[in-house]
Amino acid sequence: KTYRVAILGATGAVGTELLELLESRNFPVAELKLLASERSVGRSLPFQGENIIVEAVSDRAFENVDIVLASAGGSTSKAWASVAVEKGAVVIDNSSAFRMNPDVPLIVPEVNPQAAADHKGIIANPNCTTILMTLAVWPLHQVRPVQRIVAATYQSASGAGAKAMAEVKTQSSAILRGEEPVAEVLPYPLAFNLFPHNSPLTDSGYCEEELKMVNETRKIFGTQEIRITATCVRVPVLRAHSEAINLEFAEPFSPDEAREILSQAPGVKLLEDWGKNYFPMPIEASGRDEVLVGRIRQDISHPCGLELWLCGDQIRKGAALNAVQIAELLVEKNLLQPTKAYVAR
Ligand code: A2P
Repeated sequence: KTYRVAILGATGAVGTELLELLESRNFPVAELKLLASERSVGRSLPFQGENIIVEAVSDRAFENVDIVLASAGGSTSKAWASVAVEKGAVVIDNSSAFRMNPDVPLIVPEVNPQAAADHKGIIANPNCTTILMTLAVWPLHQVRPVQRIVAATYQSASGAGAKAMAEVKTQSSAILRGEEPVAEVLPYPLAFNLFPHNSPLTDSGYCEEELKMVNETRKIFGTQEIRITATCVRVPVLRAHSEAINLEFAEPFSPDEAREILSQAPGVKLLEDWGKNYFPMPIEASGRDEVLVGRIRQDISHPCGLELWLCGDQIRKGAALNAVQIAELLVEKNLLQPTKAYVAR
């Protein structure tokens, strides 16, 4: 059986990766529609040796579509997801628009695939830093429940889209020429710099990105019991995020046991060479499917604490790959018919 697929936001950083993954993973595509804004009309993108013309998103664009992979920002998803569902498609949405909606499953296939069974037409793809963290923490949490997570992130420009990635390159060459870097997409120059994450600040003092890690991780793990805090920082890296993660358990968790568990965990690759001080780096995580995990060590400040470090490709597992894996899960479990159409307004 093959499926009619539409990519909403096909011209973006995640959209072009979705296209590549559908092809390289041999997703059973019967027909592919590439949707973006009016700005992209007339462009075409290659898929399976053909050039597919990009269309402007419209009501009619969702007719005769089985699966929509949406990655065009929250407001675009809010405007179009329910239209697509009404026309009979299942939407896998990469934006934050529906993630915390109780009617919308939030899925990392290695962690909570069972949640897909309850979908009502929309399935949310979690925030990128959250996806990467859950891959490393879930297998440990299965063995001994984690009580508290303290995370610090080092996030690449790709999370802010293709234009932000281009801006970091332009800023870098400007600085190397001795010129002032210009920031138009990102709020401040990122080249040779870093800044606290540019998502909106909330009354709590946390930015939205940090609260996504808190709230989405709890929803994916299916528990409100875990205490989580995070500091999210944008760094001048192109497409892989890094995270320093401190975990606190009710009893000691030895680094060797954690290593053993993570060496067999799906979607994770353990990468440690203590003799060479060689651990995961964004340049090695870029373009890879697995989250690289290393520097697993006992927290010297707490007998039940464990420290670890990870890097993962933000565009791939942080976004496009996770979305395509959700689509594969829907196909495998025969879940492309929503149980009850969801009308999100
Ligand atoms: P376009 O290229 O036509 O602007 P990124 O995350 O890399 O910035 O990509 C965002 C994606 O979302 C692009 O494909 C972009 O299309 C698309 N997009 C942004 N705004 C809209 C909109 N209002 N309607 C449809 N697509 C949109």
